[in-house]
Amino acid sequence: MFYQLLKPLLFSLSPEKAHELILQVAHLSPALGRLSGTPHSERLKLRIGACEWKSPIGLAAGLDKNAEALDFFAAQGFGALECGTVTLKPQLGNARPRIFRYPQESSLRNAMGFPNAGMLEIARHLEAFDSELPIGVNLGKNKDSSPEESIDELSVMCATLEDDADYFVVNVSSPNTPGLRALQEKSYLTELFQELKATTKKDLYLKIAPDLEEAKVIELSNLACELKLTGLIATNTTIMPERGLGGISGLLLKQKAKKIRKLILEQQLPIELIGVGGITDFQDVKDFWFDGGKVLQIYTAYVYQGPQLLKMMQQQMITFLDQKGISSLDVFFKNDLKNRKQILS
Ligand SMILES: Cc1cc2nc3c(=O)[nH]c(=O)nc-3n(C[C@H](O)[C@H](O)[C@H](O)COP(=O)(O)O)c2cc1C
Repeated sequence: MFYQLLKPLLFSLSPEKAHELILQVAHLSPALGRLSGTPHSERLKLRIGACEWKSPIGLAAGLDKNAEALDFFAAQGFGALECGTVTLKPQLGNARPRIFRYPQESSLRNAMGFPNAGMLEIARHLEAFDSELPIGVNLGKNKDSSPEESIDELSVMCATLEDDADYFVVNVSSPNTPGLRALQEKSYLTELFQELKATTKKDLYLKIAPDLEEAKVIELSNLACELKLTGLIATNTTIMPERGLGGISGLLLKQKAKKIRKLILEQQLPIELIGVGGITDFQDVKDFWFDGGKVLQIYTAYVYQGPQLLKMMQQQMITFLDQKGISSLDVFFKNDLKNRKQILS
């Protein structure tokens, strides 16, 4: 209701102005997050790696890049929050305009190029945040750093943020930093993650692009397993050159991202998969569970639907448990995949 009244005003502004306004309000008034949010239910808690998510729906990276409104988003009902992408040094990102809306298609295009306040500022914000909600920090390289320099950069960030993060994500899948996606290479990722493993005890994830060939997705899934990462995050935004620079999220990404997630899950590897990309309703959540997944993140659907989306998904998850006579999601996921599929069918 609250968001339905606010949305016409927000959508009359440029996407980035609307984004900035929301973040300012969210920063100044976490209470508003509670008023419009959905309290967590004990029945929806799930363990992923070393973290206990308070619900299976987390906030995806990019919405609160600088971790400046975590209290607000925590009160909205997200099960975990991911801030960033953070870089070692602050950077301005690409020229504006750099976020574009496709309201007919419930999609966005992001060509931001990692604008962020830099590691030290984000560390300050994370230190001030006190919550049991798992916090992921999504890490990227500064625009002008070479691949070799980026290994040191990410390692310094892990060491500095170690006490304030619950998991780290290596982002080499944004289409907006020149040459970044080329780093989805086995030799580079092996060197990088060996360094990060020696630096941090926290869960480590690799976030991948939806535009990879099938063989590459399988290669990276196996690599994540070999390197003993906690898992993968799939997917980042997709390139659609006919729409312009940057990466597309939301409904236009949905099928591509879903296919990549299914492919990863089919490998049945002992790694986690955080699903993201085009998740819009509870049916998407159930589809992901049916394929073998557990927890998801959202960005674009939250922009279009607001806090109501979290409320609706939570109600539907509880109704699902009630209808099936299952006490909690944790109990549901104790079933093997064959049984889970039967319950979901
Ligand atoms: C405006 C915008 C900014 C984003 N910034 C980041 C980012 O900084 N780091 C990152 O890993 N993903 C970023 N993403 C990608 C999202 O985290 C997510 O992977 C993608 O949007 C697909 O999910 P969705 O369809 O629910 O939006 C951004 C997406 C958008 C739309």
